[in-house]
Amino acid sequence: MSDAPSDDHFDLIIIGGGPAGYGAALYGSAAGLDVAVVEKDKVGGTCLHRGCIPAKELLETAHVFRTVGHAAQFGVEASAPTLAFGQTMARKQQVVDQLFNGLSGLLKHRKVTVFSGTGTLAPDRSVRVSSSDGQASTLTGDAVVLASGSVPRTIPGFEVDGRVVLTSDEVFELDHLPRKVAVIGGGAIGCEFASMMSDLGSEVTVLEALPQILPGVDKDVVNVVRRSFKGRGIDVRVGAKVQGHTPGSTGTTIAIEGQDPLNVDAVVVSIGRRPLSESLGLDGTGVAVDERGFVQVDELCRTSVPGVWAVGDLIATPGLAHVGYAEAILVVKQLLGEQAVPVDYANVAWCIYCQPEVAFAGFSEQGAIDAGYEVVTTKHRWGGNSRALIIGDTEGVVKVIAEKQADGTGGRLLGVHMAGPWVTEQLGAGYLAVNWHAAVDEIAHFVQPHPSLTESFGEAVLSLTGRSLNS
Ligand code: NAI
Repeated sequence: MSDAPSDDHFDLIIIGGGPAGYGAALYGSAAGLDVAVVEKDKVGGTCLHRGCIPAKELLETAHVFRTVGHAAQFGVEASAPTLAFGQTMARKQQVVDQLFNGLSGLLKHRKVTVFSGTGTLAPDRSVRVSSSDGQASTLTGDAVVLASGSVPRTIPGFEVDGRVVLTSDEVFELDHLPRKVAVIGGGAIGCEFASMMSDLGSEVTVLEALPQILPGVDKDVVNVVRRSFKGRGIDVRVGAKVQGHTPGSTGTTIAIEGQDPLNVDAVVVSIGRRPLSESLGLDGTGVAVDERGFVQVDELCRTSVPGVWAVGDLIATPGLAHVGYAEAILVVKQLLGEQAVPVDYANVAWCIYCQPEVAFAGFSEQGAIDAGYEVVTTKHRWGGNSRALIIGDTEGVVKVIAEKQADGTGGRLLGVHMAGPWVTEQLGAGYLAVNWHAAVDEIAHFVQPHPSLTESFGEAVLSLTGRSLNS
């Protein structure tokens, strides 16, 4: 490998071009900083190429498929839908490519320099870039942001082969939809894939080790998802401990402790993600890494080395693209000498795009009680919402949790938890209310448009004042 140290100097060097990394690049360059991004693959990262975007695109295909399948109830006669999986995947790729081109163009327009190669941290805020053709160079910076992201966790005994055993990375490369699928892990990724594949025609079993799927989500919301999955034939097995699998001529047989073996064509392993810190060359740099591989930071995303920050999935904060954006902004504000407010991780927006969708911000009912609050809650079902009836999607609940006042009405809003139609698009009002530390009577003052899905949130909050309109 040749070593040609360059005199390239930047205000900010970012290792990793995913949402946290390109977020820092875009926000920093918008403030006039001279920014370099080192990326070994493609800017956009997991979110754009192997995560959020392709997953939601395929879930939209599932939505279209369901809608067409139910068209007859509207008097719209469509023959039973069939799936052209090649076109499904081609459209997914078109959306990804279009966003990739847009992001690349935006970075160029903002004069962000993108270096193609693997970045490792070197002394004195410098970064060594090793490209795939064997070339190496060194960049120096006033600040370095580590944003190398995460990769899927795997289970011993389930070696990923891209054919029978898949992670989210491989699902987006499938050339056909497996007929029978086991999804190991019933978290956000597992529930999204289970929902999507079932709606498109696969026979799906979810194997979750814990006593409930979607751990950490409010119980009333989880119950909605479980009921819906059951109704659509998704076999959800909780407390399921997988012990390994034996491949056959086509698929494989999974051994599950205390249960009959399960024959499937494909296994999707979605048991979480692990930080990708090992390729950053951190040994001996003074940057502290915990035993799980997360780079250790304080509440301002500062690592143990001055001038070196870490953001996104690489640190032990919620693994969400928009959390990466928030951390990127937090870091750049500090570089600019501006006031920087730590991210309020307890109140970030969570959106899970399975059918029915799940969205929430703030305390669940149990979480608020555990934190010592006396709470009052209300649950509104979509059956009473005119727009939900009109679109024919009344599955789910809007649950609002507030601090209980002496007269029994709601005080400060603590949490908004939803399952149902388009709730990922509806969470905005609840997210703002919770994060603004708004009180029930303040939010109840604002009237939602009629007829709209957002009325259910309005009604729920109104009812916590002790009076209501339609409920
Ligand atoms: P997760 O941590 O959310 O869920 C993993 C699930 O697998 C848990 O329920 C866990 O109990 C279970 N599990 C672990 N080991 C198991 C085993 N051996 N057998 C059976 N079950 C087992 O992880 P997931 O769903 O893979 O998502 C990874 C990350 O991606 C999360 O941090 C999440 O925040 C993020 N993400 C968020 C999405 C969203 O908000 N819409 C969508 C996709 C991912």
